[in-house]
Amino acid sequence: MNILILGSGGREHAFAWKMKQSEYCDRLFIAPGNAGTASCGVNVALGINDFEAIKTFCLQEAVGLVVVGPEEPLVKGIYDFFAADEALQHINLIGPSAKGAQLEGSKAYSKSFMQRYHIPTATYAAFDEATFEEGMAYISQHSLPIVLKADGLAAGKGVIICQSIAEAKNVFTEMIRHKQFGAASEKVVVEQFLAGTEVSVFVLTDGKEYKIIGHAKDYKQIGENNTGANTGGMGCVSPVPFMDTAFREKVESRIIQPTIQGLQSEGIIYKGFIFFGLIHVAGEPYVIEYNCRMGDPETEVVMPRLQNDLVALFMALQEGKLNEVSIVIDDRSCATIMAVSGGYPGAYEKNKPIRNLSEAAGENVVIFHAGTLQKDAETVVTNGGRVLAVSAYGSNIREAVSRSGNVLKKIEFEGMYYRKDIGFEFL
Ligand code: AMP
Ligand code: GLY
Repeated sequence: MNILILGSGGREHAFAWKMKQSEYCDRLFIAPGNAGTASCGVNVALGINDFEAIKTFCLQEAVGLVVVGPEEPLVKGIYDFFAADEALQHINLIGPSAKGAQLEGSKAYSKSFMQRYHIPTATYAAFDEATFEEGMAYISQHSLPIVLKADGLAAGKGVIICQSIAEAKNVFTEMIRHKQFGAASEKVVVEQFLAGTEVSVFVLTDGKEYKIIGHAKDYKQIGENNTGANTGGMGCVSPVPFMDTAFREKVESRIIQPTIQGLQSEGIIYKGFIFFGLIHVAGEPYVIEYNCRMGDPETEVVMPRLQNDLVALFMALQEGKLNEVSIVIDDRSCATIMAVSGGYPGAYEKNKPIRNLSEAAGENVVIFHAGTLQKDAETVVTNGGRVLAVSAYGSNIREAVSRSGNVLKKIEFEGMYYRKDIGFEFL
């Protein structure tokens, strides 16, 4: 089968690396891809939101499977676009319908969904311009800290944790009245702060059956000891020690199953990944957020540990046979550490040559590219904030993290930075 992956990050390189190993994979295309994906397949210069151009390409290259990496095309309805077009209906597109993608596309929608199905989450209320004064009054009565969330997609920047009522009122006003995040913050979710350890759980579903394909702990902040600005993710480890049988059973029965049943009872078509962003609070799981895609850099540890043929899983999903497969996860731990451009998540420069990339890799290591570009035959340059995700296996988290760190010591580019404490609370 010919396969097209949409996206250009470390997640998409990890997908490409995994799918390239499948016995069902013939030609593999990645649009637009990066210097790393080019070693697994053919990069194609297509915009991920240009559905017409994607259609033309799929028909021209007889693509049978499309895997959508980022959320934006999903929220914009790429699934529905394929389903509505007779010429494309035979193509297996992995991703939810636009309605299903609202689990990520609208925080107010996802909160009310969780409420309808009694899925544990922080208590909340949603406000917009019409209910602005009620929102200000709600904030006045709220315990601290207060979490404010722009309703729509805000490139991971739309959540602000406020330490005082005055700050929360100010942020609330900025979001709604001054459209701090554009249309995304016309509506704002105000919610209770939950203190605990986060964990991301990944499910593949056809909207009826589901399989858990892995879990990971992401480190979102730029600075060591979880300080400083939020990023897309600076590193990940898998497994996390508290994900034992008892906790996993709570996650399944209280969160995953009611979510799938909710999708079904609302008639929502969902053939793709659900990323459950959870928090472990004194032994109990709560949902912080849903995403309608895999995580980045979580995919860079989940794919290396998943032993199933990923293309075969997508085929089973399409045929309604997910319940017939058994998921096999590698016993080894896996860690990934992100090397980022100096200045990230603020302004940064691109086009910095990356040295010792091929020399640095070794046994039990996979270097996934994120923001990279093949400049010429010999040179790979930086092309984004997050540049490389160095994933490594180990017999435990300590070994995996230290192996990844040792590889990063050999790689160089101007301004390169990475966290040296990934996995710290589990060492
Ligand atoms: P989100 O975009 O919803 O994932 O939020 C970004 C980050 O903000 C999360 O990964 C958490 O670290 C934090 N966060 C969001 N909601 C809450 C909450 N209710 N309590 C504590 N932290 C939160
Ligand atoms: N690493 C978090 C995310 O992909 O949203």
